[in-house]
Amino acid sequence: MKVAIIGVGEISKLHINALIQAGEQIVALCDIIPSKCELANKEFSLNAKIYADYKKMLADEDIDAVHICTPHYLHAEMVINALNKNVNILCEKPLAISLTELDEIEVAVKNSTAILGVCQQNRYNDASRFAKTYFSDKKITSAYGSLIWKRDADYYNSGIWRGKKATEGGGVMINQALHTLDMLQWITGMPISVVATTNNHALKNVIDVEDTAFGIFKIDDERNFVVTATNSAKYSFPIVLGFASENDVMQITMDNVILNGNFYVKKDGTSVIGKEVWGTGHVKLIKDFYNKLSKGEKFPIDFYEASKVVKLILALYSSNGNEIFIK
Ligand SMILES: NC(=O)c1ccc[n+]([C@@H]2O[C@H](COP(=O)([O-])OP(=O)(O)OC[C@H]3O[C@@H](n4cnc5c(N)ncnc54)[C@H](O)[C@@H]3O)[C@@H](O)[C@H]2O)c1
Repeated sequence: MKVAIIGVGEISKLHINALIQAGEQIVALCDIIPSKCELANKEFSLNAKIYADYKKMLADEDIDAVHICTPHYLHAEMVINALNKNVNILCEKPLAISLTELDEIEVAVKNSTAILGVCQQNRYNDASRFAKTYFSDKKITSAYGSLIWKRDADYYNSGIWRGKKATEGGGVMINQALHTLDMLQWITGMPISVVATTNNHALKNVIDVEDTAFGIFKIDDERNFVVTATNSAKYSFPIVLGFASENDVMQITMDNVILNGNFYVKKDGTSVIGKEVWGTGHVKLIKDFYNKLSKGEKFPIDFYEASKVVKLILALYSSNGNEIFIK
């Protein structure tokens, strides 16, 4: 299929690699810094047409799909413009940074013939899938997710959009810990409310968003899950997820699963491209997206699925220690 990419920064390399592996044709690249597109053309031996204006690219190019790999505040606008042109979309997370944006995307989804998929690739990790299947016929009573990472001033200074409410939409929760929260709700079920706090402990003069977040998500009156996330560490530790049901306790970190004291490694040999913490899910997700597209099948992480974690994060942000009900 003919594919275009908007935003040729860090994560785009992974998309380009995965598209090449999947046998798709990258016909156009767009970045407000066009030299990034030239470099990508060289690095990956592409012959893609280069654009600085994504609207011109959408108007001029006859493409089957577009990948949106831009800063968070641009996702909704770009998704809506592509949907209005009936171009299939794979958008990087988060789908949106406000409820208003979600509402606007929903209208565009309903009026479009295009498919919208979102890169919440950890759902494709073997260990995550194992947990999802294992607990599918069991009632999880409690769960937790813990993300302890290093994101210092150098990281935040590497992109003008990072660390700012207006352009990133938040800090550790909406960027780094989005996948952790998505895993918890995907495996455990969508919560009804949250009590949470956010704080900036270690990056006060660097970012205007939280470097640390803690939330207790109520699934029902008896059951909950807890998420704790910080960018203030001096090392990015592997994320840990834990799930408990009446008879089972499972902990997951990377490809490793400890289930009721027994240790398992769950991986299918897909190699990691880019940062180890991004996992192997992107390649599998991108292959699945094109596979579904070619067969005219529904892609599982669609507008409604991707909206769930955005709603949870926005509720967590508005909590300030109070119980917020999730709409
Ligand atoms: N799924 C994951 O695990 C994962 C991992 C890393 C990043 N991401 C997501 O990918 C997205 C991009 O992150 P990144 O780290 O690659 O950021 P980045 O800053 O390295 O890249 C963003 C690129 O977008 C370009 N850009 C900005 N405005 C544009 C516009 N109007 N038109 C075209 N291009 C424009 C920038 O010049 C830059 O090259 C974010 O949403 C981020 O959360 C996801």
